[in-house]
Amino acid sequence: MIDIVSELPTLRARVHQWKRDGLRVAFVPTMGNLHAGHHSLVRIARREADRVVASVFVNPTQFGPHEDFGRYPRTPDADAQGLAVAGCDLMWAPTVETMYPFGVDGAVRIAVPGVTAVLEGAHRPGHFDGVATVVSRLFHQVEPDVAVFGRKDFQQLAVIRYLVRELSFPVRIVAAETLREADGLAMSSRNQYLTAEERPVAAEIHRTLQAMREALSGGTREADVEAEAVRRLSAAGFEVDYAVVRTPELNAPAGPGGPRVALVAARLGRTRLIDNLEFEL
Ligand code: PAJ
Repeated sequence: MIDIVSELPTLRARVHQWKRDGLRVAFVPTMGNLHAGHHSLVRIARREADRVVASVFVNPTQFGPHEDFGRYPRTPDADAQGLAVAGCDLMWAPTVETMYPFGVDGAVRIAVPGVTAVLEGAHRPGHFDGVATVVSRLFHQVEPDVAVFGRKDFQQLAVIRYLVRELSFPVRIVAAETLREADGLAMSSRNQYLTAEERPVAAEIHRTLQAMREALSGGTREADVEAEAVRRLSAAGFEVDYAVVRTPELNAPAGPGGPRVALVAARLGRTRLIDNLEFEL
């Protein structure tokens, strides 16, 4: 049985009771409309602790004015059912008023410099500040020992690690592999925006990331690999925000070898998709 909680005092009572019982608490933050990728995070959380809390909250402060906050899919009943099957003990589903007691405009915000100025941060101004703002609030509400985040959102994971060190959150961050559809498309709540014609084309992102890895392994220069990726995705019908090769710190690679991540953000019709591939050169 999963406990569905939307009042802060109730959440605190549950978590504090577990802690008095000596149980460790793992946390999986989400925006709901859960798919197998989210469920895999809950299963990992299960292995990391004795109790698992997942939050379902579509966070207004991380959406830009022209983004999909209003139409972001909200499926709380299916989410609760899926979370229960995956082994989650408590679904934390606060209202906007509970999360932002002084309203979204009156909210104390966490501004994250540096990493937020590039890639997703550059294309979605204010997005990572909104993520850091809500994750800080969620950490204070849930008080987890461990929190699980997906590698699918590579830059978000970097922001969270930075936030935890900066604000001394006593939370251990665990990174989870990206779950994919059979054709390689990374699972995402936004995939359901894709039309029947767009859906098979969307897998071209993963194939392009693999081609980027192969070309780099074969000795092709980064700039040429990036240009070819943009050409390939554009030819398939995408509007490309970026297709780049970076070090895991998101710097441009300086030396010949070492760990790399290829990152893509591209729009197909009305749907903006992101994905990445980590590898060693
Ligand atoms: P959301 O997009 O719902 O994602 C919740 C978590 O699931 C994130 O850690 C994300 O990286 C992970 N995830 C998404 N797709 C995945 C996949 N295919 N495989 C594995 N993990 C996947 O990310 C957010 O929500 C929000 O920004 C949030 C952190 C909750 C703050 O509002």
